[in-house]
Amino acid sequence: KKNSSLKDSVKIFLGKIDDYDQSFLNGELFGVNGRNSNTGQAIDNSFIKEEPIPWNKNRFYTLPADDPRIMWDKENVIAVRVYDQGGAGGMFSGIPSIKMVDLSDYLKCDNAGSPFNFKNSEIGKSFSLRNISALYTIKGKFIIKAESKLNGKILLEKSADIELKPESTKNFSYLFNGKNQPSRIEYIFRYDNSDDESVFSDEAPYILTPAISKKPKINGAKVYGQRPGKPFLFTIAATGERPLTFKAINLPAGLRIDEKTGIITGSISEEGIYKIKLKAENKFGSAESDLKIYIGDKIALTPPMGWNSWNVWGLTVDQEKVLASAKVYKQKGLLNHGWTYINIDDGWEIVGDSPLPKRTPDGNIICNSKFPDMKALGDSIHALGLKFGIYSSPGPLTCGGYTASYQHEVNDAQSYSNWGIDYLKYDWCSYGAIAKDNSIPELMKPYLVMRDALRNVDRDIVFSLCQYGMGKVWEWGDKVDGNLWRTTGDITDTWQSLSEIGFSQVENANYAGPGNWNDPDMLVVGWVGWGPNLHPTRLTPDEQYTHISLWSLLSAPLLIGCDLTRLDEFTLNLLTNDEVIALDQDPLGKQATPKMIKGNIQYWIKELEDGQKAIGIFNLGSGTEKVELN
Ligand code: GLA
Repeated sequence: KKNSSLKDSVKIFLGKIDDYDQSFLNGELFGVNGRNSNTGQAIDNSFIKEEPIPWNKNRFYTLPADDPRIMWDKENVIAVRVYDQGGAGGMFSGIPSIKMVDLSDYLKCDNAGSPFNFKNSEIGKSFSLRNISALYTIKGKFIIKAESKLNGKILLEKSADIELKPESTKNFSYLFNGKNQPSRIEYIFRYDNSDDESVFSDEAPYILTPAISKKPKINGAKVYGQRPGKPFLFTIAATGERPLTFKAINLPAGLRIDEKTGIITGSISEEGIYKIKLKAENKFGSAESDLKIYIGDKIALTPPMGWNSWNVWGLTVDQEKVLASAKVYKQKGLLNHGWTYINIDDGWEIVGDSPLPKRTPDGNIICNSKFPDMKALGDSIHALGLKFGIYSSPGPLTCGGYTASYQHEVNDAQSYSNWGIDYLKYDWCSYGAIAKDNSIPELMKPYLVMRDALRNVDRDIVFSLCQYGMGKVWEWGDKVDGNLWRTTGDITDTWQSLSEIGFSQVENANYAGPGNWNDPDMLVVGWVGWGPNLHPTRLTPDEQYTHISLWSLLSAPLLIGCDLTRLDEFTLNLLTNDEVIALDQDPLGKQATPKMIKGNIQYWIKELEDGQKAIGIFNLGSGTEKVELN
């Protein structure tokens, strides 16, 4: 206190808490869930549930320096009571500390919450500095500095003398030539009459995907599988200015093409390999590409590419949100790059503890009020040339506590078929209480039951197993008809989660191939949130490039998990790089493996159908490194 510049308050930092806290100083409550508490505030033992749950929020508390709860010049004791409603629980992320409040505590920069904007080859943003003190004026020099992450070149540096009166705000904006390279921006405030400075920082998004040409180009999978006699739906993915005219040469009997949309429908009853040539034409030129159609037992010959509602909407998904996503596929051209599925995750059934009936007297599942007409929704999705996916669990309840398929598998498969479902993600939740043990036969059992039910309906349904890799699912997933299987727990939008999952996909590599894919979980780029409150992914632009590149090398299913109606230019660039997507969709279906690891640098290699190899070089460290590849 003696040496501090301002002498009026004390700041206590406790890191983050999973989920709720009550924090005590010398036996007296001083903070709850990140909010200061007055002396004598009653303790609420119910641990009032707040929304959003404060689990990832910093716990900063401030007390007046003369607060009677502080015992100056004596030993003080802080006790933290944590209430965790599930998961690991506890205090994490950040070293607890105590300090006197100084001017830096009153200076707020909203850079992290302000979006970047591209303007031709430049990038920049508008943001503000705010003095939240009601008493003090903040004076100093403010510097904005952008540096290339590749070569350290300074791309922008400007500074100004700033005076911020109490409770005032100043707006700033900048632009620099950085659209095509990674850069780091620092906002440095040097306080007058002191050695202190505050540093805020950003990493700017940058665009690597080449601009789309007006000339036609055919993208997407070069192989496609369907079972004999089952409804066929394949949409030619092609970029180029509309209108485009599509043709398919050597199309087998039973199939027809809509020349305006490139949607091929019908069915083929004869097993076999059908080689066709696809064509797309407009006033700027024409493009051709080969497609091999395999009519046989295997489907999902390339990793499924689509959108799933979970990472964005969680249990708050509804029909409008699903349909809006499908429309964006067309508006923003995602379907021109091979994006196909629109999948509803958990939250469409009747919740387990609802008094409403969950099934009809015949045992058919009833959708909740957010999904008034599943069949009509499926029809709208198919009309766009897209495919329709859904979610369930083998236990009585889904992971979100909604009605699941236990003992109604045949009914449910039939309902899916009636609605036009093309893809089923089948979880494990609540089946744990039914399985006798963790043996492989017990792990396989519920999936065999659903497999038989799916095999008996009159359409192909891609079968996605979601049991987090238990019992090395990759070793037996194919035996239960699994087309893809989750290999890990749920991903979240942090580098820790992404890198731990992505770079550990090694043991399962040999089990990936046409019709069978290891699923390291869905993509966490764009606006995500697992519920009604969304935020831009917490991954930096470089981490996002790593995410998409690694998943593509791994031949992983690519399931976008963001709000497509808020797709920004950077995220769209990540999702539409045809060269990268082509690696994921390569017909050989080989998963990349790490061939060399040197310190922070990992070299992953994927064999391709044409004999070439794709190489991914990843820097897992936090600084720029120069590597040589011979
Ligand atoms: C599990 C799955 C998630 C999601 C939720 C739905 O956690 O792993 O991907 O499907 O269930 O409740």
